[in-house]
Amino acid sequence: MPTRTEQKLGWIGIGRMGYAMAERLAKGGCDLAVWNRTRAKAEPLARHGAKVVSQLEELSGKDIVFVMVSTYDDVKEVVAKVGKPKMIVECSSISLEGSAELRQSLSAKGIEYLAAPVSGNAKVIKAGKLTFVVSGPQAAYAKARPYLDMMGAGSSYVGEGELSRIAKICHNVHLGVVIQSLCEITVLAEKAGMPRHAFLDFLNKSVMGSMFTRYKAPALVNLDFHVTFTPKLLRKDMDLGLDAGRRFEVPMPVAALTRDLLQQMIGHGMTEEDFSTLLLMQAKASGIELQPENQKVSDGLS
Ligand SMILES: NC(=O)c1ccc[n+]([C@@H]2O[C@H](COP(=O)([O-])OP(=O)(O)OC[C@H]3O[C@@H](n4cnc5c(N)ncnc54)[C@H](OP(=O)(O)O)[C@@H]3O)[C@@H](O)[C@H]2O)c1
Repeated sequence: MPTRTEQKLGWIGIGRMGYAMAERLAKGGCDLAVWNRTRAKAEPLARHGAKVVSQLEELSGKDIVFVMVSTYDDVKEVVAKVGKPKMIVECSSISLEGSAELRQSLSAKGIEYLAAPVSGNAKVIKAGKLTFVVSGPQAAYAKARPYLDMMGAGSSYVGEGELSRIAKICHNVHLGVVIQSLCEITVLAEKAGMPRHAFLDFLNKSVMGSMFTRYKAPALVNLDFHVTFTPKLLRKDMDLGLDAGRRFEVPMPVAALTRDLLQQMIGHGMTEEDFSTLLLMQAKASGIELQPENQKVSDGLS
């Protein structure tokens, strides 16, 4: 285990995820410089010892630069301006093809590259339960691993190249399908006459309960749709999944239907709240209007 300041770290992208991840490195005492397009969002990290920089070029020469922005186009834009760090660990959810193109262009510049997308939202990160799935050269993984460990519950190394992108895409397709199913059965239970909190209490104690169904319970019970992950970002991931299904010739009928239900919600202008507003769509389609139950429900994290 290196000392926490052995490697000079850089961070690009202080959004919902990036903030919580970089905060763990800063609080852990790492030598960390952060950049965000909207600088004000990064400034609170200075309290924990991070250096907030104004120019991406200031991250050139760092040992490891982590990237957490939105789409592959955004990744390309920031990476083009970062100069020459020794290694880039790219954590955003992007396509296989984008990741491969990035690997090629970084390799031409002599920059090591790990593809390291994540599972978890900002609250999961705070609870220390973020996980990474990583692919790329093993030696690069060995260097980055202590810092990945500091950001959460560890990482799974799945092999060379872009394999981690496929793992992450599969993971998020499952997330989309599970939230839609959870909304369907929660509305069914309510329309049949039981409170949502009672139904979800049963489900979450059962073998079908998971960290995910537990931490979504407060939103579904109390209709708190404070955004953790936007409908458009989830649609991006469902589309990445369907593209991969086409590429590898794997039928994905449940994913395709879920993607269109999500699209329907986006078409109704429901884009600014959490993706779990799929519950409201399901209620509407079932002819009922939901009310917050104002119940104290554990999210299983805090
Ligand atoms: N939220 C989740 O639960 C979750 C979970 C796992 C993975 N992910 C993935 O993680 C990534 C980040 O998600 P998020 O929820 O943190 O999104 P977010 O809150 O919208 O943050 C996006 C970040 O990217 C920056 N950015 C976007 N486009 C940029 C550009 N062209 N140039 C420079 N910076 C740019 C934003 O800068 P500004 O602050 O200036 O806008 C912001 O820092 C996405 O790929 C998402 O799919 C999210």
